[in-house]
Amino acid sequence: MSGFFISFEGIDGAGKSTHIQALAERVRRAGREVVLTREPGGTPLAEALREMVLQQSMDALTEALLIFAGRRDHLQQVIEPALARGCVVLCDRFTDATFAYQGAGRGFDTAVLAQLEHWVQQGRQPDLTLWFDLPPEVAAERLSTARVPDRFEQQPLAFFRRVAEGYAARAQAHPQRFARLDAGQERATVWAQLEAAVARHGL
Ligand code: TYD
Repeated sequence: MSGFFISFEGIDGAGKSTHIQALAERVRRAGREVVLTREPGGTPLAEALREMVLQQSMDALTEALLIFAGRRDHLQQVIEPALARGCVVLCDRFTDATFAYQGAGRGFDTAVLAQLEHWVQQGRQPDLTLWFDLPPEVAAERLSTARVPDRFEQQPLAFFRRVAEGYAARAQAHPQRFARLDAGQERATVWAQLEAAVARHGL
């Protein structure tokens, strides 16, 4: 059986975390091996880079390089071997987040990001990207009651408006792998949309 790669995307506060766990359980119950992972992170090296990226200020190119360095390690150590074994890989964020946060959010050159994407991924892309789309105002409201914010979660609403536009642009550029979920609905409704998107891919 061939592997299947699903990424979960959306602005902070869009509510993807609980659905990742639920999908992992559903796929395991169906008898498939699941690898649940995240970015930035997913390997010891990439998790160390994650700490730096989320906690320390740095210029946008340094940030992009660290994120793609972690992604390279993650692909080589975890994602590619898992797909080769036939696993379903569920990844909490992937490269669309870099285009949305570093590109649209921070205003970093997307042509450079596209180059890094090409070198690091060698054509590898998720088979399906579940995009939790939520108005930034609603996400900010949800986040205001949440945990201690990281460097990105501290950003003003205008930043998340740009990030949301960045996701919309990526979805438009890659319509075949993007499934938009209306994350403003109640949880059960979002889950139903997610199940339908996954079922369309035979999972
Ligand atoms: P997040 O999934 O929100 O982790 P947690 O639920 O533990 O807060 O991801 C952490 C942050 O990293 C998030 O604010 C988005 C940011 N990020 C980027 O800026 N660029 C990237 O390429 C990725 C993968 C994430």
